[in-house]
Amino acid sequence: MNELKGLILSGGKGTRLRPITHTSAKQLVPVANKPVLFYGIEAMVAAGITEIGIIIAPETGDEIRECAGDGSKFGAKITYIPQAEPLGLAHAVLTAEDFIGDAPFVMYLGDNLLREGIVTLTEAFKTNAPDALILLTKVPDPEHYGVAELSDGKVVALAEKPAEPKTDLALVGVYMFTSTIFDAARAIEPSARGELEITDAIQYLVDRGKNVEPHLVDGWWKDTGRLEDMLQANRLVLEDLETRVEGMLDAGSSIEGRVVIEPGAELVRTVVRGPAVIGAGAKLTDAYIGPYTAIDERVVVERAEIEYSIVLADSRISDLGARMEASLIGKHSKIDRTNGMPRTFRLLVGDNCDISLV
Ligand code: DAU
Repeated sequence: MNELKGLILSGGKGTRLRPITHTSAKQLVPVANKPVLFYGIEAMVAAGITEIGIIIAPETGDEIRECAGDGSKFGAKITYIPQAEPLGLAHAVLTAEDFIGDAPFVMYLGDNLLREGIVTLTEAFKTNAPDALILLTKVPDPEHYGVAELSDGKVVALAEKPAEPKTDLALVGVYMFTSTIFDAARAIEPSARGELEITDAIQYLVDRGKNVEPHLVDGWWKDTGRLEDMLQANRLVLEDLETRVEGMLDAGSSIEGRVVIEPGAELVRTVVRGPAVIGAGAKLTDAYIGPYTAIDERVVVERAEIEYSIVLADSRISDLGARMEASLIGKHSKIDRTNGMPRTFRLLVGDNCDISLV
């Protein structure tokens, strides 16, 4: 088999993570302080794939280019492939046809995270040389995913987000293809949601007797498209954290459990209970940071308690008066509370924000 190429899909709209994705690509939202997209790039490089194409959308493409660069920091060569409109995963594949040529390739959805990486899967793809290889995992809510039906270990039917799923086996957002997928993507029609579905293209291969090899995923998998998934992905990645303290703690501060404190971070009378990560240049004063929290670079927290949350760079959180949890706070946000009377709220809230006062 020829050298594998990589294709990462980082276009699309990210509607489910609004308002964060009004201003930023969903694939750049950090999990444990690292953009989701980077996990996919690193998984490919670990599997020996260094020629990587990234599909980008007009609105967020520049930001993605700026963040991932030419790929040299990952040991890869990245080619950016603009997709004018998010017309579906199979459309994205067709958009990348010139880049892929006749090489076999791994397609990785830029908002997916796979704990075990893809090394054993690429090995199986090279050894067994099927026309396509798909990954499946059992989920409690298959109606939100592509769903597969197997018989005697072979794929017999696939459906994209069926209202009444026949199984609980979801299609994970990592696929391996040979160039037969291009003809399949050209042959199918747009789905009810108006997209060329990769699920339908794979079904087309199955219908023509091509060999589509299913693999069950070991370890966890997360599609980070929704807030709950993002927080869970953050928790799962932080579970594997190893302690590293490079910032400064004063005598009144302490850390418990597995915690990373990046260089230049400063803790004053603050408790961090891991697993948690505190980004470079963050300043925490009279604060409590609880398990499964990622505080990004230059965030300021004063007289506040935060748990099971992700706080993006350059935000400032102070005097909350209650513990904040299960929250995703965008870049450059400011949250505080004043003790003046009357007890009122003063908010400047963007479209599609989600705020619960409990
Ligand atoms: O995460 C797994 C699921 O991903 C599969 O189970 C489904 O079968 C598959 O269709 C896909 O479903 P989603 O609805 O979650 O896909 P989403 O629209 O979120 O797009 C996935 C990634 O691909 C995301 O990073 C955006 C990017 N994308 C999407 C479209 C529609 C593109 O680059 N171009 C596109 O045209």
